[in-house]
Amino acid sequence: MSVKISPSVLTADFLTLADDIKRLEAAGCDMLHLDVMDGAFVPNISFGVPVIKSIKAHSTIPLDVHLMIDKPHRYIKEFAAVSDWLGFHFEAGSNNAELLQEIRNLGCKSCLTIKPCTAPQEIFSLLPLCDMVLVMSVEPGFGGQKFMPSALEKLSALRGEIERQGLKVELEIDGGINGETAPLAVKSGATVLVAGSYIFSDEMTDRVKYLKSL
Ligand code: DX5
Ligand code: ZN
Repeated sequence: MSVKISPSVLTADFLTLADDIKRLEAAGCDMLHLDVMDGAFVPNISFGVPVIKSIKAHSTIPLDVHLMIDKPHRYIKEFAAVSDWLGFHFEAGSNNAELLQEIRNLGCKSCLTIKPCTAPQEIFSLLPLCDMVLVMSVEPGFGGQKFMPSALEKLSALRGEIERQGLKVELEIDGGINGETAPLAVKSGATVLVAGSYIFSDEMTDRVKYLKSL
């Protein structure tokens, strides 16, 4: 099974996004990663439900929505209606177990995300409620940052625990993924690669194909 690719549109030009999405579909992307930021949980503001709704109407790629918002349970129904994979942060102040279950009940795949400051052991007991775990390899908030190698140990620890518990959980990595860091992440157990600034370039198609070959 080849690794799955989930391009992040955060650094895209939104006026030409429709064309880019068609190119990403043609290149064989598996998901589209959508970063929702509220200016409180992270020091940046991006977009919300209306933009995701337009993308969903335009695209056949499953949408992988990464909520970087405080108390995500407040908005979970609205986002579930426009998501395929729906993830929120362990650190964001909701009841994590209840929210993971609610996401599944609403018909989406559940994803729990951890910031660089959170140890993987803190979420081991929640793994049976997760369809995917997202390990941040930068501080969430901005595209184009440098990959933090400490994320690699976290991937290995989570991969080991997922196997120990006999679960099927995708392991996603997000932040600073490029031609050098992607192979390291895959070797450490990542099954889904998010990449923003690396993919949204003149070499979009070649770069997606390269990542998919890992
Ligand atoms: C950062 C976002 C990322 C970001 C990745 O908070 O979660 O998805 O867009 O961008 P790159 O790949 O440029 O680090
Ligand atoms: Zn993200």
